[in-house]
Amino acid sequence: MPLVTIVGSGRVGTEIAKHILINDLADVVLIDIDPNKVRGEALDLTHMVAMLGIDRDVKPSTDYRDMSGSDVVVISAGIPRSPGMTREQLIYSNAGIVYNICKSISEYCPKAVVIIVTNPVDALTFIAWKATGFERERVMGFGSMLDSARMRSVIAKKLGVRVSKVSALVMGEHGEAMVCMFRYSYVDGTPVIALLSSEDMEEIRRTVRGLGAEIIRLRGYSSTHAPGVGVAMLVRAVLRDEKRVYPVTAILDGEYGYRGIPLAVPAVIGRRGIEKIIELELTDDERKELEQAAKKIVETIKQALPPELCADIALA
Ligand code: 2OP
Repeated sequence: MPLVTIVGSGRVGTEIAKHILINDLADVVLIDIDPNKVRGEALDLTHMVAMLGIDRDVKPSTDYRDMSGSDVVVISAGIPRSPGMTREQLIYSNAGIVYNICKSISEYCPKAVVIIVTNPVDALTFIAWKATGFERERVMGFGSMLDSARMRSVIAKKLGVRVSKVSALVMGEHGEAMVCMFRYSYVDGTPVIALLSSEDMEEIRRTVRGLGAEIIRLRGYSSTHAPGVGVAMLVRAVLRDEKRVYPVTAILDGEYGYRGIPLAVPAVIGRRGIEKIIELELTDDERKELEQAAKKIVETIKQALPPELCADIALA
């Protein structure tokens, strides 16, 4: 029986659990430091699967030992972004939380694939890689999948076409320095650069960059529905060895000219985690944008780690 542990039973963690269960992907262990909260959420989810007649188990826990045997561990624990905050400002509170969880993952689930959802996701993917000591293929961050879905939706609206006919790609950082890859975005096979003016593209870029903050401004807390379903799609790609191509934050090892730093790139996702990083041809402008994203991520990591631990983190 496949088993997925989700650490963090807040709005995003429970939404991820919901989609894993509704799609009958795995049994779920839900871990949180708050025993009543996690038991309450697990009960509600248990009744949800009973309602649907799906034979899946949800185990609440406050003990990291209960993640033993998990195929995938998702980390969504930590302080969420509140109105007016950048994702990077969360590094001070969330680096230690993610570091400690990852130490437990390496102890109790040394074979798991780890998906980081907590922000700032790119920097925390690096910290998770260091803390687990896992090979880079088994540690990935979820962020640019969400930005890509947002870009897809904004392009569809702008062009007045069905969202199902649009594919869009965002790379680099899950933050203000995200790189909207118009040259690799399509409507039914037609490159969007043939359909949009440069003003349209600038407007789309600005809109997509601001959507995370816009959701917080409007309803007081950050996105849940889109990340919930997106992380479940990533989990499914791993558990079912789907070999799907999704943009994820990966630790690069020479790809795109970088080594030992995290960056969001398109990758083939299967049972071993990140099975292949896809290297796209970039223009000089795209390369410069990617460089900005990489610089920002490295700065964020350096804020969180003591100097002796980040001596080897540098842009190639
Ligand atoms: C978002 O972009 C909070 O990073 C999350 O909605």
